[in-house]
Amino acid sequence: MEVLIQPNADVGCALGARIIAKLVREKPDCVLGLATGRTPLQLYTELIRLHRNDGLDFSRVTTFNLDEYVGLPAAHDQSYRWFMRENLFRHINIDPQRTHVPDGTAADLHAECRDYEKRIRDAGGIDLQLLGLGRNGHIGFNEPTGSLRGRTWIKILSEQTLRDNSAVFGDFSRMPRHAISMGVGTIMDARRLLLLAFGPAKCRAVSAMVEGPLSAICPASMLQWHERATVVLDEASSAGLK
Ligand code: F6R
Repeated sequence: MEVLIQPNADVGCALGARIIAKLVREKPDCVLGLATGRTPLQLYTELIRLHRNDGLDFSRVTTFNLDEYVGLPAAHDQSYRWFMRENLFRHINIDPQRTHVPDGTAADLHAECRDYEKRIRDAGGIDLQLLGLGRNGHIGFNEPTGSLRGRTWIKILSEQTLRDNSAVFGDFSRMPRHAISMGVGTIMDARRLLLLAFGPAKCRAVSAMVEGPLSAICPASMLQWHERATVVLDEASSAGLK
């Protein structure tokens, strides 16, 4: 695992954007795995800037998002499909047909999960998967004690995740309790992993991920097992490392 400690989140996001931009330039038809949440927002802003100012071309890029809440339609402003459209897709020249987010409203959710795995395989697999880190060590919505080999499936959100993500839903009771998420096995199949974690709230999870034993208690510790995992941290999130 390659651990890159940057002075702050802005510099870390700029570095993450450069890594992705390099891949897009070298392999214009690459397959990117994307994440939502607060962490990658600045990275997406930087990719938009590189598209506008430096002509970074996304026209042949394919994307697969990690996850989506069960029950939220694409038009819901807290759905991850909405998040991606607002924060990245509508600002760059990506073909909407090449952007994939699991459908949390599918009539048969299990069939949707199996189909998502097939779509990733049919696209030739993911070249680079972008990841954030949950305070409890989750990646995607793979919560502690879940399978470390699991595939895309319906995941039950932990209490911690419900607390962390519920603010934007206004009322805790409106927060979805389930999500479709790539499994840890799906994530590990990506040819490269790029995880970003910033701020003091991520400090404990970062220590468990980088220095802890490989364990289902911290699903992100599986990055230790990946052949090509890059972790970008800031001073605050890395403060607990030995
Ligand atoms: C998002 C995702 C989650 C987040 C994680 C961190 O698609 O899969 O694992 O990356 O919960 O969220 P933020 O970045 O909001 O701290």
